[in-house]
Amino acid sequence: MPKILVCRDIGDKAMALLRAQPDWELVVWPNDSPADARWVEDKVQGCAGMICTLGEKITERIVGAAGDQLKVVSTMSVGVDHVDLHALAKRGIRLGYTPDVLTDAVADCSIMLALMASRCVTPAQSMLRSGTWGTLGWGPYLFCGPQLGAGPTGKQSTVGFLGFGRISQATLVRMAAFGVTHCVYYNSGRVDRTAADAALAAKLGLQSVKRVELPELASTSDVIFTLVPGGKETLHIVDEAFLRRMKKTAVLVNPGRGPIVDTNALIDALKEGWIWGAGLDVIEGEPHIPATHPLLHEPRCVIIPHIGSATIETREAMAMLCAQNLVGGLTEGKIDVEYTL
Ligand code: DGY
Repeated sequence: MPKILVCRDIGDKAMALLRAQPDWELVVWPNDSPADARWVEDKVQGCAGMICTLGEKITERIVGAAGDQLKVVSTMSVGVDHVDLHALAKRGIRLGYTPDVLTDAVADCSIMLALMASRCVTPAQSMLRSGTWGTLGWGPYLFCGPQLGAGPTGKQSTVGFLGFGRISQATLVRMAAFGVTHCVYYNSGRVDRTAADAALAAKLGLQSVKRVELPELASTSDVIFTLVPGGKETLHIVDEAFLRRMKKTAVLVNPGRGPIVDTNALIDALKEGWIWGAGLDVIEGEPHIPATHPLLHEPRCVIIPHIGSATIETREAMAMLCAQNLVGGLTEGKIDVEYTL
């Protein structure tokens, strides 16, 4: 009877699919919190498959503790930076993950963060909650911020993307509706996208879509979305030099992974006005963010707790895909959506 480790209950429908496998023995973390690493290391021994979320670190130690019969790990996430990919590859363990189904939800949330950061929602909310609106009243320039797109002046504006995958492109579609005129992006640049970029610009009614180097991305964008994968290669790619190059009216939105942005540099950037504001769905050190964290007290910073994909429909789709990946991988040797190095 194959033993399956489920590090987090991923919802009724997906759990039912796992439970419907006639000869599987499920070992399920009993709490509504990320599974404890020692519990995972202990229970993973003898497992053929494993369900995890980005709350659990799948380390060399964990896969080593599992034993040779571990064949498939299935994560309910598009990001895989919590998984030691080399440790899996070395042992021939396959990895299922859940891209695509969350693209719209994360793109929607990215726009929300851009608007909230540019339109000063954090200080506006604080004012309301402190009961002082009555004193200030409506002010001609109270809580004003830069227009995200064309607006009444029909100004030209540029949206920038660090990484230009599915979520960036879905975010660009939304930004085009705001009347932005140009798009710049930075990616590792292995594929020549010149023709595709021209076609995309024409389709979205933009004057240009083009790949640039990091300094140009920083200095020309009015809003920048950081949507590269996490991991060593992208650690602090948004650093002091990058932030100092940004426009004083620009907004930085991080819907990707916390460590992409150097937190200390961002604190300085906000305090000293190098940039207009920041919208963060993710933050270095999450989820252990104390109430005293400086970014929580920066008026021009909006922070939400990694809920970019949190629509009911999206999370259910992610959970089902995650369960299907495991079932397919273990029963037919076929993972619907597999991550390969
Ligand atoms: C992911 O899936 O990696 C997102 O960060 C959370 O949905």
